[in-house]
Amino acid sequence: MEIIILPTAQDVGREAAGKFADVLRRTPAAVLGLATGSSPRATYEALASMVAAGTLDVSHASGFALDEYVGIALGHPESYASVIDREVVVPLGMDPSKVRVPDGRAADIAAACADYEAAISAAGGIDIQILGIGSNGHIGFNEPTSSFASRTRIKTLARQTLLDNARFFANPNDVPTHCLTQGLGTIMDARQLVLVAQGAGKAAAIAAMVEGPVRAFVPGSILQHHHNVSIIIDEEAASELTLTDYYRYTYNNKPAA
Ligand code: F6R
Repeated sequence: MEIIILPTAQDVGREAAGKFADVLRRTPAAVLGLATGSSPRATYEALASMVAAGTLDVSHASGFALDEYVGIALGHPESYASVIDREVVVPLGMDPSKVRVPDGRAADIAAACADYEAAISAAGGIDIQILGIGSNGHIGFNEPTSSFASRTRIKTLARQTLLDNARFFANPNDVPTHCLTQGLGTIMDARQLVLVAQGAGKAAAIAAMVEGPVRAFVPGSILQHHHNVSIIIDEEAASELTLTDYYRYTYNNKPAA
């Protein structure tokens, strides 16, 4: 794992965007894995600035969202389909026909999940996936005790996640209770992973994920088994790590690839 600790949330976004830009410049038709929520916003904004400046073209790329609420109206501003369109597809100039979000309104949920997995495979797999982490250690919406082998499926949101996500809804009771999420196995199949986190509220989850044992109770800890993962965090999110001197030294003295 590469642990990168930076002063501010904006620095985190710029660093993560740089990793996406490297992939997109090498492979213009790259397959991007897309998270929602507040964590990746600075990354998307940094990428959008590159697009606006003419230094990056994302129009040939395709994308797959990590998750979607079950039963939420497609046009609801907090459906992840709406969020991905508003925060990623439009500002990055992506082709909307190449960006998919799990179908949380499907009559046959199992078929929709199987179809999503098949679409990712047919696209050749995900080249680079951005992730946030829940305060309870979830990635995607793989809540504590999710199987490390899991694929895209329906999950029940943990109480902590309902509380955390209430801030996006006018009424806390409006937060959907279920979601479709890429599984931990799906996420681990991506060729490169970039997890971003900001703020003290993520410090315990980051420490458990990076320095704790690999266990299903901390779903993000499975990333310790990925061969190409960067954890990019601000000082507050890093505040409960113990080996920070080493992480900083490593980043500042990285050998040329
Ligand atoms: C969102 C997702 C979640 C979030 C996590 C953190 O697509 O998969 O894992 O990344 O809940 O949410 P924020 O970034 O809002 O703190």
